Amino acid sequence: MAIREILEVPDARLKTVSKPVETFDEALKTLAADMFETMYAADGIGLAAIQVGEPIRLLVIDLQPEDPDAEPEECDHGGHHHTHQPLKKEPRVFVNPVILDPAEELNTYQEGCLSVPEIYADVERPKTCRVRWQDLDGKFHEEAMEGIMATCIQHEMDHLEGILFIDHLSRLKRSMALKKLEKLRKAA
Ligand code: NI
Repeated sequence: MAIREILEVPDARLKTVSKPVETFDEALKTLAADMFETMYAADGIGLAAIQVGEPIRLLVIDLQPEDPDAEPEECDHGGHHHTHQPLKKEPRVFVNPVILDPAEELNTYQEGCLSVPEIYADVERPKTCRVRWQDLDGKFHEEAMEGIMATCIQHEMDHLEGILFIDHLSRLKRSMALKKLEKLRKAA
C-alpha cells in the first residue's frame, strides 16, 4: 500500500468526469487500498479516485476513521468516571455507484473536502437516497442511505462528475472560500 498525493483546487483534473470501472482486477484492489491509506493519513472520511489522479468511478468511505488499536480512553465528563472504547474502522468501497431515488426533503451539513483543505461550508442535499454499486469483485449491492452516509456518498459521487462541494455555494461564497484557501497557503 502507498499514500498517494491528493489533488487540490484549482487542479483542473478535479473537473474530470470519471469513467466506469470495467475490469475488476488486482490493480483496482491496490488502488482502493492506497486510497484508504491516503484518506486515513489525511483524517478524511471519504475519497474519490480522481482525487488521487485516477479518473475512474471508485470511492472509499469510512465514517469512523479511528485507530482500531487505540487504547480505551479514561474520561470524567458527565460527572462520573467511565471509559470510551475507540471506534472500529468501517471501510466501505463503492465502484460505479448510482443514486436511484434521492429524497425531496433536503438536509444541510457542514462539508469539507481533502481537495479543498481547511474550508468548510453548509451544503444542502437530499436527506436520504438509495444507492446501487459494485464491490471490488464486481458484485452488485443496493442500500438505502441516510444521515452523514447519505451526505458523504453524494459528496463523493459529485467528484465523479467533476463537481466539488464549493460548486454548490453561491459565486460570492465560493470566491470567498477560494481566497481564504489562497491566504492560508501563502501563510504556510
Ligand atoms: Ni471531497
